[in-house]
Amino acid sequence: MKETHSKLNEFASRGWTVIENWLPTDEATEFFRFAHGRRESGAFKRAGVGRAAATKIENEIRRDEISWLERGSSPESDRLLDRLEALRETLNREFFLGLREFEAHIAFYPPGGFYERHVDRFRDDDSRVVSGVLYLNQHWQETDGGKLAIFAAPEVKFEVEPRLGTLVLFESSKTEHAVQEAFRERWSVAIWFRRQKPA
Ligand code: OGA
Ligand code: MN
Repeated sequence: MKETHSKLNEFASRGWTVIENWLPTDEATEFFRFAHGRRESGAFKRAGVGRAAATKIENEIRRDEISWLERGSSPESDRLLDRLEALRETLNREFFLGLREFEAHIAFYPPGGFYERHVDRFRDDDSRVVSGVLYLNQHWQETDGGKLAIFAAPEVKFEVEPRLGTLVLFESSKTEHAVQEAFRERWSVAIWFRRQKPA
C-alpha cells in the first residue's frame, strides 16, 4: 500500500505512473479467466473510434475488441469493480479530483492488434479525467511486442510491458499514448474515472 501511495504521488506530480502488481496475481488470473470466458460466449465487439453516433470502426487507427463491464456479471468482475471504486475514492481523498464515477471495458487485441497514438478525452466531452489500464497477460516477453508507449514529453517515450497485474494511470486530457503492435493475444482493462458532466 505504501508503494501504491508513492506511485499515486508520482501520478499527481508527473501526470502518469506505472504500478506493477497492483492487482494480486490470484485475482488477476481469476479475472482473466472470466474475461476469456466472456469472449468465448461472444460478448466482445470490434471497437470504434469517437463517441456514440460518430463511432466508426477504423482499421487504420485501432484493431481491438471490447466488452464493457457492469455490476453483477460475476464475483471476479465485481471484486475488480470494488477495487476500482476504492481507487476512485482514494484519488478523490488525496488529490481532490472530484471523480464521480468510472467506466471500464475489457479489451482484446488479436495478434497484429494495435492502437495508434491518441488521447482518451473526447473533443466534445471533457468528463474523463483519469485513465487507467490494467494488464492481464501472463509470461509476457519482449518479443511479444504490444507495449504501451506513453509520450511523456515531445521527445520522451516511455514503454510499459502489459504484464499481469500492472496498472498504469495517466491524465486523460493530455497524455498521448499508443499500443504497439502485439504479436500474441493481448488482454487489458481500460478504465476512465469521470467527473460530473456540466448540466
Ligand atoms: C485505450 C487504450 C491502452 C492499452 O483503450 O484507450 O489506450 O494498453 N488502451 O490497452
Ligand atoms: Mn487510450
